[in-house]
Amino acid sequence: MRQSSLVVVANRLPIDDNQAPDGACEWRRSPGGLVSALHPLLRHTPATWVGWAGGTGPAPALPDVDGVRMHTVALSPEDLRDHYEGFANATLWPLYHDSVEQPQHHRRWWEAYQRVNQRFAEATAEVAEPGGVVWVQDYHLQLVPGLLRALRPDLRIGFFLHVPFPPPELFMQLPRRAELLRGMLGADLVGFQRVQAAHNFAQLVTRVLELPATDRRIGIDDRVVRIGAFPVSIDTAEMAALADRPDVAARAHRLRQDLGDPRQVILSVDRMDYTKGIEQRLKAYSELLASGDVKVRDTVLVQVAMPSRERVGQYQILRERIEREVGRINGEFGRVGEPAIHYLTQPFDRAELAALYRVADVMAVTPLRDGMNLVAKEYVAARVDDTGALLLSEFAGTAAELSQAYLVNPHDLEGLKQGLRAALRADPADSTQRMLAMRAHLHQHDIRAWARSYLHALDEGGALVSRLTSTDAGSDGTARVPRPTTPTGSPAVHQAGG
Ligand code: ADP
Ligand code: F6P
Repeated sequence: MRQSSLVVVANRLPIDDNQAPDGACEWRRSPGGLVSALHPLLRHTPATWVGWAGGTGPAPALPDVDGVRMHTVALSPEDLRDHYEGFANATLWPLYHDSVEQPQHHRRWWEAYQRVNQRFAEATAEVAEPGGVVWVQDYHLQLVPGLLRALRPDLRIGFFLHVPFPPPELFMQLPRRAELLRGMLGADLVGFQRVQAAHNFAQLVTRVLELPATDRRIGIDDRVVRIGAFPVSIDTAEMAALADRPDVAARAHRLRQDLGDPRQVILSVDRMDYTKGIEQRLKAYSELLASGDVKVRDTVLVQVAMPSRERVGQYQILRERIEREVGRINGEFGRVGEPAIHYLTQPFDRAELAALYRVADVMAVTPLRDGMNLVAKEYVAARVDDTGALLLSEFAGTAAELSQAYLVNPHDLEGLKQGLRAALRADPADSTQRMLAMRAHLHQHDIRAWARSYLHALDEGGALVSRLTSTDAGSDGTARVPRPTTPTGSPAVHQAGG
């Protein structure tokens, strides 16, 4: 088994099997925040990515993607149901997002979570070079740092949580709270998106495990675990370069024509998730249409809602509700050839997304709670002419950085309507001022800065950090490789949100 000095461990591999337009099956980069964040930086580092390839068959042997070795972990149908759809996405996910949906607790799910985390830890132990650096990602794998340390105490282990880490009142509800905290403490460095999350973690460790903790350091056994906030970002330069391409500008122009040349285009791009506040946004839009503040003839809303975690009950119900509401709004306010909402559930390649961002006068990103929200950052990066208004939820991690956005509380319907009206009627000079400030921030705080600061803290200035500073010759960020011959298991469990 070949070993690597840097191993990223995440529930998903950065690729998904996909039907190409010519009908052939290929693997391509999967959408989703985690993949968008990490994929660009690993292209520059000899690394292995340990993850699940989707499906429930035997683990396929995949070719390297952009020089990154793919090491697959297989999930059985039971693992998929009880680990991914169960404990990860029906217990932890809602709980970590303010319980905007009710978290469910089942002992069988916990057993699957332990079992799958153990499998990931064992796979990682095989591919990490002696003394190597391992970077474990996200809530699906909170036990991996502890399990891996038991197997390979020689490794430097980092853990980064991409989603919010909840306040103690919520976390305390978890029946296995102590085990989850102990699992994370197997890392040398535990990273969060926000300072508040690190604070919540320190408080919980003190309360549940009775360990000495500050918001920066925790003592456990004979080790010190460091904690901190490292807000994740995007490949700003790559998105800006993509948006600036003549073909993308031309595509944006055509899109505007196809939309009926409206005076203003509002865009939202979300995974179909109850945390994204899609229903609240549709309600606000519908009320603005009803009051005449917004008129279909001169304003259109493009809502991209990529189906996600489609076998989880709460997601199925959400999709039904959203589609009913889109139908109602179009029925009530649309005209022949002029729908009030252009509703799209398809995956788009990066260039098409960039064209959509370019066409959007207002980008509405209004999650009820979000660890970061990379879509907001992508929009800002794509506004190469410094125009456009970002309507942003106060409850997205991004809001702490993009404070020049039009900030709204998505739980406050009147506030949401007011924010949307303000963004639609914004003075262009004011919007440009705001956009310039946000763009400058993102150029400085991009994905490489994020990786550098995290790995610097983890690796304590070791050799890894310098490798990540190399610049990118550029691609559209889509990794397409021929589909391997090994079967990947049931296509029915292919997840869209990646
Ligand atoms: P989350 O991590 O909850 O999915 P983020 O906003 O942080 O949310 O990241 C979503 C990522 O998925 C972004 O990089 C975005 O460009 C990508 N994405 C969202 N919808 C689509 C889609 N329909 N097609 C392709 N990529 C998408
Ligand atoms: O942001 C949280 C997250 O789980 C990411 O890790 C992932 O990229 C995205 O949501 C999509 O989720 P899934 O892998 O469940 O489709």
